[in-house]
Amino acid sequence: MKKIEDLGDLRGKRVLVRSDFNVPLDGSTITDDGRIRAALPTLKGLVDAGAKVIITAHLGRPKGAPEDKYSLAPVALRLEELLGAKVTLAKDTIGDSAKETVANLADGEVALLENIRFDARETSKVDEERESLADDLAALADFYVSDGFGVVHRKQASVYDIAKKLPSAVGTLVLKEVESLKMATDSPARPYAVVLGGSKVSDKLGVIGNLLGKADRLLIGGGMLFTFLAAKGYSVGSSLLEEDQIDTVKGYLETAEKNGVEIVLPVDIIVAPEFKADAPATIVAADSIPDGQMGLDIGPESQKLFAEKLSDAKTIVWNGPAGVFEFDAFAGGTRAVAQGIVDATAAGAFSVVGGGDSAAAVRILGFDEAGFSHISTGGGASLEFLEGKELPGIAILDA
Ligand code: 3PG
Repeated sequence: MKKIEDLGDLRGKRVLVRSDFNVPLDGSTITDDGRIRAALPTLKGLVDAGAKVIITAHLGRPKGAPEDKYSLAPVALRLEELLGAKVTLAKDTIGDSAKETVANLADGEVALLENIRFDARETSKVDEERESLADDLAALADFYVSDGFGVVHRKQASVYDIAKKLPSAVGTLVLKEVESLKMATDSPARPYAVVLGGSKVSDKLGVIGNLLGKADRLLIGGGMLFTFLAAKGYSVGSSLLEEDQIDTVKGYLETAEKNGVEIVLPVDIIVAPEFKADAPATIVAADSIPDGQMGLDIGPESQKLFAEKLSDAKTIVWNGPAGVFEFDAFAGGTRAVAQGIVDATAAGAFSVVGGGDSAAAVRILGFDEAGFSHISTGGGASLEFLEGKELPGIAILDA
């Protein structure tokens, strides 16, 4: 994989960078700018090198045509603030405005193209369609830098096909992500503990399957834990449950036992009658959640148990919140997991927070990001990495 410095002198050269600016928005307010901040080292480096920087990125999942609510305008403003350099937002993805904006760039200036998913060819399953968009993008630039780690698992025009059209390099963010995730997965220092949460077991099937051959401990929280409790024969009240996954989870429990992998399940649960910030919360035993009550967080005993199971770990991967951390009353489990990881990291563990909701939780709950060895910007991408899958956006840079 070529690095940016291998591309030679970039002064005056047009460098197309794929970033992942798929940030959460409340109206036009960015509620977590972590992905923009994570993109800064590559972008600053290119600006300082005197390159003409052209960024392409997506936001949300528009259906292949422009839609105001998916405009990158809020991102352009925030990026300009964080970068401390002017960022010109083109009005289109690859049309006249994009071409004109790029043509007007001086050395060290930055253009952001509108949401690349406004062009249906970006996500097309037809190779020729994606290639034709990649050709259009390539016509704008001299070099390509892949720096959107959150999308490297997507075989899309601006992630995959473009790397065949221009001399390409990996950006510093993608490089750091890959190195950190490899460190946690290739030959992890032991004990190797993995905390999984989030709402659906079905999203994590591949990861769990892969980790049952690698990790020493799997700590299960979040909505997915109720399918584990059901697989053990416990009643889960009205908690989130994927009935069609119960047998799969039973299989996991058996494999874990066979492989000597410890599955750590909560012993108590914070329940409420409904999914609301101010719903009356009570603590119940994990094996007897009453009818009409849903589990929204792991309980205080479980928080202690999870902290203890993390305390001597030497490698930790965390993907998915332990409870509904967005509501104060149900944030304790996620906070305890984050704190447990911070403490273990301070004691020498290597820790990776795997993107998406858990990365947002770390910031929203006010943890210092420096307390973790690495916070990934990838949600699906970091999961697929942990599953051991080949990521098209990385593989093409190696080709
Ligand atoms: C993400 O948010 O995980 C990435 O930006 C990828 O987005 P996607 O799942 O819509 O491809």
